[in-house]
Order: sequence, then C-alpha cells, then structure tokens
Amino acid sequence: MPKKSGKPEVVGRNIIEKAGVNVDQLIDKLVRGVAAELTTYYYYTILRMHLTGMEGEGLKEIAEDARLEDRMHFELMTPRIYELGGRLPSDIRKFADMAACPDAYLPKNWEDPKSILEVLLKAEQCAIRVWTEVCNLTLGKDPRTYDLAQRIVQEEVEHEAWFLELLYGRPSGHFRRRFPGEGPHSKRFPE
Ligand SMILES: [Fe+2]
Ligand SMILES: [Fe+2]
Repeated sequence: MPKKSGKPEVVGRNIIEKAGVNVDQLIDKLVRGVAAELTTYYYYTILRMHLTGMEGEGLKEIAEDARLEDRMHFELMTPRIYELGGRLPSDIRKFADMAACPDAYLPKNWEDPKSILEVLLKAEQCAIRVWTEVCNLTLGKDPRTYDLAQRIVQEEVEHEAWFLELLYGRPSGHFRRRFPGEGPHSKRFPE
C-alpha cells in the first residue's frame, strides 16, 4: 500500500509542545540518555567479567541485574524518541560520543572488586541525574515520557542503593531479583 504523502498532524507531539515542552531539546536529552544506557550496558559487561575470585563471585549477580536493566532502559525509552519525531544517529560511534554519562572504564586496579563497585556506583548516580532531569522537564506536560523516565529512575535509585550497600554497608533493602535483569519497573508489561 503506498504511503500517504505530506506531513501528518502529530497530536502526541503538538500537545506537549503546547504544554510548554521544548520537544527538540527533549529528544536530544533522550538520545543522550539512551546512549548512556547502551554504553553502560557495554561497559558493565566488561566490569562484571572482572569481578573474579571469591569476593567477586558474590558480586556478579548484582552487577548482572544492573547491566541487563540498563539495556532494558535503552529499549524502553528508544521508541519514545521516534514517537516524538526524533531518531538515533545512524553511526554508533556518534551515538556513543553523545552519551550523557562518562565511559565506565575498567579501573586499572580491577583486582580489587571495590574499585569496580566505585565505577558502577558513579554510573548509577549519573543515570539518576539524567532521568530525574527528564522527569522534571516533563512533569505535568508529557505524561508518557514522564512515566517511562520515572520507571527508569526507580531502578537507577535501586542500583545506586545496592552498590552503596556493598561499598559502605549502608542497608538498601536489596534482595535478589526473581530472575536476572527482571526490571520490575522498566519491563514492557509491568504486573
Ligand atoms: Fe539504566
Ligand atoms: Fe542502572
């Protein structure tokens, strides 16, 4: 079937523009945010791999949950960028350079699992800032983006609390996910 010609009316975009959201600026923030999620997923793969030895073994599962949930955050928010009329860069190199958070490189002294936990903690704290900013930009104006961003924030705050607990013994209320990377807030169809 041939596609319709001309530019369609996009009520889902117009209505939030009318509510006062700068949609192009929002799209840019979302692209940078999902770029941080995907690059973090990549870096966490390396970080988790280096949680070795008797101490590291117990940390693998928690790093894996955070890793898989970050990938889920990428998948959760990316369709929203397209709904709003935005797109991801076609070159992944450009995409990675746009990430809202610094690269979570493997530390030189990775044999000490605490050094890896520090990197994980910093990444989570950056993600909390990014998605809270999106929540603040959209609160009361763009319920769909707000809902998705707040679901991500919920998990980022949990991730921060987990790593704080491991590093400082500060209780987080953590108990294992039902399965790796469950994403209780960010999965597509929450119960
Ligand atoms: Fe995330
Ligand atoms: Fe996270």
